[in-house]
Amino acid sequence: MSIRIEDVSKSYSSYPALDRVSLEIEDGEFVALLGPSGSGKTTLLRVIAGLEEPEAGRVWFGQRDVTDTSAASRGIGFVFQHYALFGHMTVAQNIAFGLTVMPRASRPSKADVGSRVEELLELVQLPGLGARYPSELSGGQRQRVALARALARKPKILLLDEPFGALDAKVRRELRGALRSIHDDLGLTSIFVTHDHEEAFTLADRVALLNTGRIEQFAVPSEVENAPASQFVRDFLA
Ligand SMILES: Nc1ncnc2c1ncn2[C@@H]1O[C@H](COP(=O)(O)OP(=O)(O)O)[C@@H](O)[C@H]1O
Ligand SMILES: [Mg+2]
Repeated sequence: MSIRIEDVSKSYSSYPALDRVSLEIEDGEFVALLGPSGSGKTTLLRVIAGLEEPEAGRVWFGQRDVTDTSAASRGIGFVFQHYALFGHMTVAQNIAFGLTVMPRASRPSKADVGSRVEELLELVQLPGLGARYPSELSGGQRQRVALARALARKPKILLLDEPFGALDAKVRRELRGALRSIHDDLGLTSIFVTHDHEEAFTLADRVALLNTGRIEQFAVPSEVENAPASQFVRDFLA
């Protein structure tokens, strides 16, 4: 599903977190939002998700203007920076959560939920761990569960806010590989927030560099590396 962000602005008590941001993401693309802390990455992701309302501008998913659509009706999956798993629920219950809260008429049967959970555990390479509790998993495994949960309702768009930020380098690399192949296999359109340029360059088809609420450059990694669009980009990559 393509995503078009048109002249989006958002401020917090008159401080502009996003300043007339425009971005066009193609169907099937993997885009990284890269920038220093406070540059507006999370705010932009939350506006796309429908968790923040922009003061100005529009957001389009394909031909659909979703600016006034609630987050729940946008059909997106979201993975947060910190583990947002429910500690009192098993892995299987966490993954099934989004399915079990669907309106009765569209809710899948218990058996269908069970087989969907098994399928998702396979997808994130955690087969057989459905009965565990989050406290019995490693950090990397927990983020795999968070990813499975975000994918339960078969979203076409996946949004991830620094999902591997708390993990060590080796686990991060493993999860990057797993995420990129899931993105490709499912034909998702994904937006991945990070402040780590190596992570952005290895994962993404294109990278959007943010600086104080504005896009400095939006290009393929090799172009950002070889032809930085501004002094800010040069300094950020140095
Ligand atoms: N809920 C909020 N209330 C007030 N200011 C906020 C809020 N969320 C973000 N900001 C401010 O908006 C700017 C952008 O923040 P954010 O989008 O979180 O940046 P990033 O994710 O790139 O670190 C920062 O200056 C931040 O302090
Ligand atoms: Mg952030």
